[in-house]
Amino acid sequence: MSFSLEWLRLREPADHAARDAGLLAEVGERLAQRSAPLIVDLGCGAGSNSRALRSVTPADARWRLVDYDPALLGVAKAEAQAVGVSVEARTADLSQGFGDLLAGADLVSAAALFDLGSAEWIDSFVAAVPETAMVYAALSYDGQEQWSPPHPDDAAVLAAFKAHQRRDKGFGPSLGPEAGDYLVDRLRAAGRDVRTASSPWRLGRPESGALMDELASGIARVAEELDVDATAWRNAPRASCEIGHIDVLATRKT
Ligand SMILES: C[S@@+](CC[C@H](N)C(=O)[O-])C[C@H]1O[C@@H](n2cnc3c(N)ncnc32)[C@H](O)[C@@H]1O
Repeated sequence: MSFSLEWLRLREPADHAARDAGLLAEVGERLAQRSAPLIVDLGCGAGSNSRALRSVTPADARWRLVDYDPALLGVAKAEAQAVGVSVEARTADLSQGFGDLLAGADLVSAAALFDLGSAEWIDSFVAAVPETAMVYAALSYDGQEQWSPPHPDDAAVLAAFKAHQRRDKGFGPSLGPEAGDYLVDRLRAAGRDVRTASSPWRLGRPESGALMDELASGIARVAEELDVDATAWRNAPRASCEIGHIDVLATRKT
């Protein structure tokens, strides 16, 4: 599944504003106790997750950026190098396993990635994380959506969208909105301390109008792929919306 640079740039301010500040700060505090920590950013895209993390991570942190889209990876790498960060870029299809991608990691992180994953893939991820590494998975879509003002087709269109989210996104049948909770469950089963926080996009006009329009158009498009007529929904005037996500931080049990 491919993501355009334009879409990732458009959503970045909303993603950064939505992240739970407490979990993000804790990631930074814990990494500050390690020397030159290695941070692996899976599905890094154009580097939004790394940019958010860099606000709290130590200056001597080393980065390993991973994506299967070489163009996005190139943007992420160039932007990291431009601010003087030690960075290694790895082009890899994460559906094919993790190989040595997580080797030596102090932190394995991802944003807006796990909701593409299947149960089997998330199981394989949890098994592959080094015991000493933390996991910080931000912004997994959780299926909570509220568009305002409400529209009579909200229920039908959003149900179709969620059904589409559960289709195969390259990792086998996706858990979509359930992926974040599943990740939490598996990390706990693996003996981790896990904390979660909700991290909804709270979007309104005029500041987030372009993102809202693009999002509504994408939701309508996939609903129509499932034979739901979303014409009226797509064109409805909207003042605001709230789109739910979950942030997850897993540490070793102490
Ligand atoms: C929703 S985007 C999020 C990008 C970035 N983490 C951010 O927060 O902006 C998902 C990212 O995962 C990458 N991705 C999707 N499937 C992948 C796979 N099988 N292997 C590696 N990367 C993948 C995409 O190329 C894209 O960059």
